[in-house]
Amino acid sequence: MNTINQAMLRQSRGVDRIIEGVATSDGAGVKLTRVLTGKLHQRLDPFLMLDAFGSDNPDDYIAGFPDHPHRGFETITYMLSGRMRHRDHAGHEGLLKHGDVQWMTAGRGIIHSEIPEQKDGVMEGVQLWLNLAANRKMAEPWYRDIASHEIPEYVTIENVTVRVIAGSSNGVAGAVTREDTEPMYLDIHLPAGASFSTAVPATHNAFIYVYRGAVKVGVTLVESHRMAILSNTTDADGVTLTATEDARLIMIAGKPLNEPIVQYGPFVMNTQEEIHQAMDDFRNGRFI
Ligand code: CO
Repeated sequence: MNTINQAMLRQSRGVDRIIEGVATSDGAGVKLTRVLTGKLHQRLDPFLMLDAFGSDNPDDYIAGFPDHPHRGFETITYMLSGRMRHRDHAGHEGLLKHGDVQWMTAGRGIIHSEIPEQKDGVMEGVQLWLNLAANRKMAEPWYRDIASHEIPEYVTIENVTVRVIAGSSNGVAGAVTREDTEPMYLDIHLPAGASFSTAVPATHNAFIYVYRGAVKVGVTLVESHRMAILSNTTDADGVTLTATEDARLIMIAGKPLNEPIVQYGPFVMNTQEEIHQAMDDFRNGRFI
């Protein structure tokens, strides 16, 4: 692992809004916090949803997410703790463990299940939904399980550890790249008092979600289990944050698609007609 010097920024983005998230349940009763919802689709284009789950009570997660469909976007599941097995209708299957990522392109349609493979202990993770460009929504489904050791990592001179899941940061290329949406997905671990900077294109929408401790972005404190939407400032070339205590967070940025977004549950398309088609295809077994 390399120790690197981080970006010297001309100007950092600040915080536009803090989002608390809404407690809800999904699948067969899994308790989770929906941090990014439909209301933020335009503001955080190309990101559609962020769910955070974390509990040491098996009743909160044990039933998992039995068979359900997706069409028109990508799901990125990052396991922070615990084990989750996924299976899809095409026969693909994999086990996600602590630190692993599953990157799934639903494209024209996938039916899968996501079921905890543990009966007790802590289950913690986040699932992000990333939109697909109109001309990619009906692409062939694709997925990749990325084992924890395959995720590029670097450490700064301030002892900040950064895992680069997607895009690139401070010259380190991540595990996944995407042309249309250029997502950057970082998991950042900071000791108390340390600062971290990375470049983010001014054209991209960006946010952080703090899952341990707290950080400051400019003058704004972002506490644990809060999302901060970063301001879109033409002159800002990145973001700098400082840990007020030991902290862990994910930082996500992407290039907006600027296309119409129509969502009905697990289907996200560009028009109402395409949603009706998705429902019809699903009911009539055309996802298989
Ligand atoms: Co799913």
